[in-house]
Amino acid sequence: MINVNNLTKIYKSPVKGKNFFADLFNRQYKETKALDNVSFEIGENELVGLIGPNGAGKTTTLKILSGILYPTSGEVNIFGFTPFEKNYKLLEQISFIMGQRNQLIWDLPPLETFQLNKEIYKVSDADFKKAVGDLTALLKCEDLISKPVKTLSLGERMKMELIAGLIHSPKIIFFDEPTIGLDIFSQEIIRDFIKKYQIHFLATIILTSHYMEDVKRLAKRLIVLNKGKILYDGALKEIVEKYSKEKYVIVTLEKEIDQRKLTKLGKTISYSFPKITYKFDRLQIPEKINLINKLIPYIDLTIEEEPIEEIIKFLFKSAK
Ligand SMILES: Nc1ncnc2c1ncn2[C@@H]1O[C@H](COP(=O)(O)OP(=O)(O)OP(=O)(O)O)[C@@H](O)[C@H]1O
Ligand SMILES: [Mg+2]
Repeated sequence: MINVNNLTKIYKSPVKGKNFFADLFNRQYKETKALDNVSFEIGENELVGLIGPNGAGKTTTLKILSGILYPTSGEVNIFGFTPFEKNYKLLEQISFIMGQRNQLIWDLPPLETFQLNKEIYKVSDADFKKAVGDLTALLKCEDLISKPVKTLSLGERMKMELIAGLIHSPKIIFFDEPTIGLDIFSQEIIRDFIKKYQIHFLATIILTSHYMEDVKRLAKRLIVLNKGKILYDGALKEIVEKYSKEKYVIVTLEKEIDQRKLTKLGKTISYSFPKITYKFDRLQIPEKINLINKLIPYIDLTIEEEPIEEIIKFLFKSAK
């Protein structure tokens, strides 16, 4: 449904020199390659997480996909349309929701912004009523929509941003850092909402975030960007299998035993009685478990995957 082919974006920004007149007639430009030959496809009703360090090109990707920005080269096709050609038929089905920028009017209640968007997107009275009803119910915020925006907390304002961006029932939504700056409790509400919205409205979603928790909870598929290039595109589960070379083995000891005996088994990550954590090469796990069974009296033993955060860090390091 969303087809991105060899997308490249080069930003040109003027460099200021010392001499104003020299600048004026012989302007120097600095080029930043924000996207470098990026290609991917996204199917209907998919929810894909787009992650990468600062400056990786995430926001640029979403801006091009939502028609705000022209690429330098490459194609984007969203069910037959090209977003930056600004065809209304396509744009009315898209929403671009940013956590950092807001469209609400500070002194007025959010309902006024909803009504403004109703006019822009030519939503009928009945559809508008239904959308406001459904969305406020999903976010449990019926009482907030008629309070002035300036009296709302950050988390409450984000809820209102979501409703404002979704009043026209878009089928494709690009969320750029929707949970940024929110407390853990509010983050959880937003995540929960995005999940429910996707299921309820069969929406297709791309989400960027710096919080791995967002991605882990919401996306089955991950696209990892670094310096404008795709480092990984695939299932979240597979990234663990492909890039994680080690696993953690956590042993709960029955009684205290000589530390030398414990360290003989391999690399210990931490030891504080009764818990000891080892890090072993995946391939050595059976052999190591065997040894532990022979040498260490324990009451519990669990094997855990390396946290996804660590794997991603490793991915970025090896890409440098
Ligand atoms: N309008 C612009 N003019 C010039 N350079 C820009 C412009 N917008 C972005 N860039 C540059 O393009 C690169 C990609 O920026 P982008 O905002 O897409 O990154 P990002 O992955 O969203 O980063 P972040 O995690 O910080 O939001 C960066 O090097 C950035 O400085
Ligand atoms: Mg960004």
